[in-house]
This record gives sequence, C-alpha cells and structure tokens, in this order.
Amino acid sequence: MPSSFSTDGTETFSLRSSRPVRKDRMENYTAMAVCLHEREGVLQLSEGREEGEERAPMIRRDHELENLEVELLLEAVFQHYGYDFREYAGASLKRRIWNMIRAEKLETVSGLQERILHDPAYFERFLLSVSVNVTSMFRDPGFFLAFRNRVVPLLRTYPFIRIWHAGCSTGEEVYSMAILMEEEGLYDRCRIYATDMNESVLQRAREGIFPLDQVAEYSDNYRESGGTKSLSDYYTSGYGSALFRASLRDNVVFSQHNLVLDTSFNEFHVILCRNVMIYFKKSLQHRVHRLLYESLVPFGVLGLGSKESLHFTPHERDYEQLEAGWKLYRRIG
Ligand SMILES: C[S@@+](CC[C@H](N)C(=O)[O-])C[C@H]1O[C@@H](n2cnc3c(N)ncnc32)[C@H](O)[C@@H]1O
Repeated sequence: MPSSFSTDGTETFSLRSSRPVRKDRMENYTAMAVCLHEREGVLQLSEGREEGEERAPMIRRDHELENLEVELLLEAVFQHYGYDFREYAGASLKRRIWNMIRAEKLETVSGLQERILHDPAYFERFLLSVSVNVTSMFRDPGFFLAFRNRVVPLLRTYPFIRIWHAGCSTGEEVYSMAILMEEEGLYDRCRIYATDMNESVLQRAREGIFPLDQVAEYSDNYRESGGTKSLSDYYTSGYGSALFRASLRDNVVFSQHNLVLDTSFNEFHVILCRNVMIYFKKSLQHRVHRLLYESLVPFGVLGLGSKESLHFTPHERDYEQLEAGWKLYRRIG
C-alpha cells in the first residue's frame, strides 16, 4: 500500500486499486450507443424535483430513452474515469444528474455525457453532483449515546483500536468520533481511518473548518449524545467558521477509498458506514456488506445509518444488534 506523509504531518496514502479501463466493456457500450442513435432523434427530457428545487419545464418524457441515456453515461464514466455508479439507486441518481444538466444549462443526458467525456472539470462537478455529501456532527445523537454506552466498554478491552469511517464526506462524523473517544480516554490508543470516494470532500475534512451557524446546531447534538464538556472547547471561532483542534486529527488518516471498486485494507474493531449504502441498489449493498464484514475483527462493531439495515443481506445472521433502535451491530459469525 503506497504511503506517505504530507508537509503538515498528516499521514496520507492511497487505498485505491489501479483500475485500467476494460476494453471488453467497449462492445457492450457500443451496442448501447447504436441502439440510442437508431431511435428517432434524442428527446429532451426532464425530471421531477428535489426539495427546494425550481420546477423544471416538462418538455417531453420518454423513460425508456432516458434510462438508456443514463446507462450510457454511467458506462462511459466507468470506462473513461474508473468511477462506477452503475449500481446506484436509479431514481435519486437520475434526479441528481438532471440537477446538473439544468445547472450546466444543457438539455439532455447525452449532452452531459459529451461534456463529461471531453472535459475533466465537468467530471469533477459530476462527481460532486451525484454524490450526496450531507452530514453533521453527532448526527442522530442517540446513535452516539448508544455508542458511548454499549460500544465503548467493549473497546476498553483492546490495547489498540482501529476505526473506519467509510464514506465520511466532509468529516463531521470523524471529528465527532475523535471527541467521543477523547472524552472516554481512548483516543490515544486509537487510529481512525476516514475514507470517501471523493477527494474534494476529503480535503475539506482534513481542514476541520465548519460554518459556525451549523456548529451551533451540532452543540445540541453533542449534548444529547452524552458529551461531557461544551463543544466550543474543541474549536476556535472566527470569520463565521469554527476551526476544530488539530490534535483531534492526530490519530486520523484521511484517504480516498471507493467502496464499489477498492478492496479491504485493514481489520477494524469498528466500522461506521452510515448513510452511504442507502444510495446503492440491493446487489451493490450486498457486495459492500461483504467487504465490511471481511474488514471487521471477530466481535467488531458495525454502525449503519438510521434508514439502513442488515435485513435481507447475506450477513444478517452474522451480527447481533447491540441496542434496540440504533443500527449498531456486533459481528458474531
Ligand atoms: C450522505 S454522506 C454520509 C456522510 C456520513 N457518513 C454521515 O452519515 O453523516 C455519503 C458519502 O458517501 C460517499 N460515497 C458515495 N459512494 C461512495 C463509494 N462508492 N465509496 C466511498 N464513498 C462513497 C459520498 O461521497 C458521500 O460523501
């Protein structure tokens, strides 16, 4: 695994596998493209709204054609850039693709595909548009309270603790965990791996600067999660931002890792993968569950988002729930 230290002393390394574009997929792509162009013209399509969005003009809808264009786009993105969105849940992915089409003042999915393939800057924006990066500190405070009460006592038995935040977005969850572990006297013996597929959100996570008005809301979460101090003890404020203490990052490694494409890179005592798989199709959820299961030590703990579940996954029977109501599971199988 390539590893290096950046100038600010933060340990960085890439967990990503090299992903050569697969030539055998070209035939599949070409067949789909021919099918699209054989149809009479490319229709202009529009899509429903997400909360707060302006209503888009309904031009003409053809779901079959739209699906084909989206399939081609995702296949093209995979072959050209190596990012695989082909098994992301369709409706919300399409909605975000359409948000980008409107923002870029384009008209069709095919038009977007053309731009993305020929301009990497478009791809960077695509990546941000299609991934949902919403997060907060001590999100679902009851989850963190259950973590303190049920998981921390288990972790005390280990001389060294490895925690993986898979899909950490801009890092609020990671700073929350660092604070919690510090308050429980365990931070010095833990190493936190914070990964996301998206380098630009990781860059923000490394900075640890969050808008002050949001941090005011996080203070309530912190208290409800069993925080023993004041959240303001952990940051300095200025210019409308809160800069979190650099020491909270001392034992954190931020790195790019794609749950769809990359392999396991360590064995962990805790894995939090919250509000990530909710955007995946079932088949992909199953694959990622296998990866997480294989990355946990026996009796390790898995944390999921409040709307996510282990039910109907191949590993359902390999875990026991630690506390009713909270998606905290201990590996027993
Ligand atoms: C909604 S955020 C969740 C952040 C945090 N875990 C939380 O619960 O607040 C989802 C994150 O998952 C990341 N993500 C989506 N697909 C991913 C993948 N295939 N591999 C790694 N991260 C992914 C996105 O970039 C985004 O930052």
